[in-house]
Amino acid sequence: MPGEYILDVRDLVVRFRVKGRGFTEALKGVSLGVRRGDSYGIVGETGSGKSTLAKTILGINRPTSGSIYLEGREIDYSSSKDVSLARRNIGIVFQDPVGSLNPREPVYRIIRAGLINSDVPKDRYEERIVEISRQVGIPQGKLWSYPGQLSGGEKQRVSIARALVAPKKILILDEPTSSLDVSIQAEILNLLRDLRRSMSITFIYISHDINVIRFMCNRVSVLYYGKVVECGETKTVLSSPAHPYTRVLTGSVLGIQRSEIQASDSVAGGHVSTEGGCIFRKVCPSAFEKCSVEPAPTALDGDHSVWCHIYEKSEEVYQ
Ligand SMILES: Nc1ncnc2c1ncn2[C@@H]1O[C@H](COP(=O)(O)OP(=O)(O)O)[C@@H](O)[C@H]1O
Ligand SMILES: [Mg+2]
Repeated sequence: MPGEYILDVRDLVVRFRVKGRGFTEALKGVSLGVRRGDSYGIVGETGSGKSTLAKTILGINRPTSGSIYLEGREIDYSSSKDVSLARRNIGIVFQDPVGSLNPREPVYRIIRAGLINSDVPKDRYEERIVEISRQVGIPQGKLWSYPGQLSGGEKQRVSIARALVAPKKILILDEPTSSLDVSIQAEILNLLRDLRRSMSITFIYISHDINVIRFMCNRVSVLYYGKVVECGETKTVLSSPAHPYTRVLTGSVLGIQRSEIQASDSVAGGHVSTEGGCIFRKVCPSAFEKCSVEPAPTALDGDHSVWCHIYEKSEEVYQ
C-alpha cells in the first residue's frame, strides 16, 4: 500500500566484490516496511549484514538489486540529487564514536558538519548547535573540546548531536552503544528514547543484543546472514519466537547455545546463496527435506511473519 511506510525496503540484494574470491552477498533479498513513528529493530549476529543495510539505505553502498522507497518515492541511488535528499531526511549514528569523529576538530565544528547541505540557514547554525547540544546533554563548556578529551559516552552524544542537528525524519542507529561500558550504555539508551519522543522521529535501531532491542524497539526484523527470517512486533517476536534461529537467539530452546548455531564460514562470508534452500538449514536443529527449497514468508498473527517451512499450511505449533 503506497504511503503506508515511511521507509520501504524491497528485495534488497547487496554484493561486494572480494579480491580472488568472486563476491560476497551481504544482503540476499531483504524487505522491511518501517512505519512513521516506529522504533524498528534489526537484530542479528556480527556479519549478518546490518551495517550493509544501513549504509545502503544512505547510499554509502550501492544496491545490487531491489528498491528502497522513502515516503512512497523510490530513491534512485544513481542520482546524486536523490542520494543527498535521502541523507537530508535520514541521519545515522555509527557504532564506533572514535572512528567516526575527526580527532582534530573541536566538538562545535563536528556538530556543525551535520548542518552542511541541510535546509537550516547559516545564520541559525549557532542557535541549532547550542540547542541540540543541550538536548543530548553536552555541556556548553565542552563545545570547544576535542574528541580525545571526551569520555566514550560523551563522544557518542556528539555523534548523536551531529546526526540530529539538522532535523531528520529517520535516524539509523548502528549499534550505538555496543562499544560503551554497561552503565554508560543505559544512559545513552535512555537519552535516545527521550529524543525519539520529543522529536517524533522514526528510528531504525540496529543491534546484536536482543535485550537492547526489547528496550528500544516496537517492531523488529531478525536478520540471519543476509536474510530476514522473522519479523513482527518486538514483544511477540521475542516472547513467542517462531523461527528456529530466533528461538535459539532468545534462549527459548533449552540445551542449544548461540555458538552452536553460528553460521559456517561459507555462510558468514556471504558465499552461500539462498538458491541452496533455507540459509539456516545447515545449523538448524529442526531442518527437514523441504528446507533445501528457500522458504516463503508465512503470516502468523498480526504483523508477525516467519520464513520457515515448519509453519507452511499447518496450524501445528513448533515444539
Ligand atoms: N565493503 C565491503 N567489501 C566487502 N565485503 C563487505 C563490505 N562490507 C561488508 N562486507 C561483508 O558483508 C558481510 C556483512 O557485513 P556487515 O554488514 O558489516 O555485518 P554486520 O553489521 O551485521 O556485522 C560480511 O561478510 C562482511 O565481510
Ligand atoms: Mg555492523
